Amino acid sequence: MAPTPNGMIAKENYDESYVSAGNWRLFVSKVRQAGNVIIGRKTFEVALASGVFPIGGVLNVVMTSKKIENRWGGKVLFTSRSPREVIGLLKKKGYGMAIVAGGSLVNTSFLKQKLVDELHLDLQPEVFGKGTPLFVEESFDAKLRLLGTTKLSKNEVQVRYRVLKK
Ligand SMILES: NC(=O)c1ccc[n+]([C@@H]2O[C@H](COP(=O)([O-])OP(=O)(O)OC[C@H]3O[C@@H](n4cnc5c(N)ncnc54)[C@H](OP(=O)(O)O)[C@@H]3O)[C@@H](O)[C@H]2O)c1
Repeated sequence: MAPTPNGMIAKENYDESYVSAGNWRLFVSKVRQAGNVIIGRKTFEVALASGVFPIGGVLNVVMTSKKIENRWGGKVLFTSRSPREVIGLLKKKGYGMAIVAGGSLVNTSFLKQKLVDELHLDLQPEVFGKGTPLFVEESFDAKLRLLGTTKLSKNEVQVRYRVLKK
């Protein structure tokens, strides 16, 4: 995820233009390493409108309860399965790692079900008050252990955490 230091992942109207182009390239390379990416229906709509959907060469999993026409064949899977079932499906298909890439509803449902091992946050150099937060306002609590930090560019830092599971 590429949040602001105050934990926002999109401005109002789903505007993600505060995320740097370099960060997008980094994200895509990570997704290609995993071979898959899991996103919510709203993130899919934003990515489709901005021409970055689907990410080539990987399985794009879109979580939705709606019937959406699949124009992309095997590259894309629209599913109403639960987060746990989606992880099970990817394991069955032979993937060793899954990238949960938002938005906030998807992040929250995977975290709440203790399906997230690591949190990678690429902090973007901007703050704003209104928009979409990293997680939705629900009741959950996850303790984190710092795995490492990397300076990505002059103004961007990646912070990596392990999610501790009791
Ligand atoms: N900066 C970043 O790093 C970053 C990364 C990703 C996304 N974003 C931004 O985040 C915003 C979207 O976030 P959002 O929270 O509004 O929406 P979202 O999580 O992308 O999508 C929500 C939708 O996904 C489906 N969904 C979510 N959890 C599900 C579950 N457990 N089972 C089945 N379906 C599930 C539902 O679709 P249906 O209503 O169709 O059932 C739900 O309405 C966009 O602006 C996007 O650009 C930012």
